[in-house]
Amino acid sequence: MVHRFMYGCGYTEPTNMRVRTKAGREDLRAIWMDGDSVTAIDQRALPQKFKTIGIRTYPEMAEAISNMTVRGAPTIGAAAAYGMALAWKAGEDLDEAAKVIKATRPTAHDLFYAVDLMLSRRKGDLVKAAEAYADGVVTMCKSIGEHGSTLIEDGSRVLTHCNAGALATVDFGTALAPMRVAHRAGKKFFVYVDETRPRLQGAKLTAWELLNEGIDHAIIADNAAGHYMSRGQVDLVIVGADRIASNGDFANKIGTYEKAVLAKESGVPFYVAAPVSTFDFSLASGSGIIIEERSQDEVLFVGGRRISPEGSRAMNPAFDVTPARCVSGFITEMGVFRPGDFSALVRRH
Ligand code: MRU
Repeated sequence: MVHRFMYGCGYTEPTNMRVRTKAGREDLRAIWMDGDSVTAIDQRALPQKFKTIGIRTYPEMAEAISNMTVRGAPTIGAAAAYGMALAWKAGEDLDEAAKVIKATRPTAHDLFYAVDLMLSRRKGDLVKAAEAYADGVVTMCKSIGEHGSTLIEDGSRVLTHCNAGALATVDFGTALAPMRVAHRAGKKFFVYVDETRPRLQGAKLTAWELLNEGIDHAIIADNAAGHYMSRGQVDLVIVGADRIASNGDFANKIGTYEKAVLAKESGVPFYVAAPVSTFDFSLASGSGIIIEERSQDEVLFVGGRRISPEGSRAMNPAFDVTPARCVSGFITEMGVFRPGDFSALVRRH
C-alpha cells in the first residue's frame, strides 16, 4: 500500500506531514512499503530539502537505521519490521537478518520488539505483518494524542525535547500527538522547541512539523529551558521515550534528564508519551538500559564544518536515563499511567 495522500483526491483528514513536493501538497508517512521496496523520508536532509529514499534490501534498511535516515523509536521499529519483510520476500535467512537489524542502534526498544514480533510471525506473510505493525503504531499514536490532549489547555505553554513527532513514529507522533489533537480541537497554545544538540532534531524536525501543522512555537537553545521554567513560563513538558523500564525510569534523547530535573525543581508537570512497544518490562530499572555512543564528529562539526579546535576530542552519548521520580505520568494508547503502575500495559505487552 502506498501511504501518499493528495489533497483534493478524495482524502480529507490530514494525517501528519503536510509537505510541498513536486506533486503538490501531500500528506506522507515517514516510511511505507511501496511495491517491492520501502520508501522513507530522508530525515537527514530536512528541513532544507524534502526527499525520499528507496530501500530494497534488509542491509540497506539496517544502514538507513544506523545513519539516521530513519529515526525515532517507533519509526525505527516500523523500519525494522519492513527490513524483516524485505528479507522474507527475498528468501533470506531471517535469523541473520534479525541479527543485522538488531545491531544497528541499541537503545530504542521498539526495534527489538518489532524484530522479535516479525520472527514470531515467520510462518506467515511478513509483508502483511510489517504493514499491520506500521498501521498499529499509527493507531496507537492517535490514541496517545486523544489521551494527552486533555493535558493541554487554551493558553498552555508546552516544552518538548528532540523530535517525537510524525517523523519519529511513522505518523502523528507521541509527544507531538497531544499537540496535534489539541490544535485541531481549536485550542491555542505555544510550544518551546529545544534545539536538541548535537543533531538538532528539535530545531530541524520538530520545528518543521509544528510549522506544517500551524502550531505556534519557538526554538530555544537547549540551555534556555531552565530560564523559562524558573520564571513560571512553562506549564508542562511532554517528551517521547526510547525505552521505559518496569519502574518508570526511561531513556530518551540526551538532555531529557536535565529537563526533567529542572521541571521537578520548578514544579512543572513532566509527561512522557510512548506506545506499549517502547516499554521494556524485562528491565527492573533504567540502569540496565544501553546508551548508544555516536560519532564524536556529531559534536565537533555543525553543518559539515568543524567548530572546535583540531586536536580536541568530543564525547557523544545519544541518550540519557531519567529517573521515574521526575515523571508526572506516561501518556500511552491505553491512557495516562503513573510511574511503575504499569500492570495493564504488562498484560497488553
Ligand atoms: O536519536 P533519535 O533521533 O532516534 O532519538 C529520538 C528520540 O530520542 C525520541 O525522543 C524518541 O525516539 C521518541 S520518538 C517518538
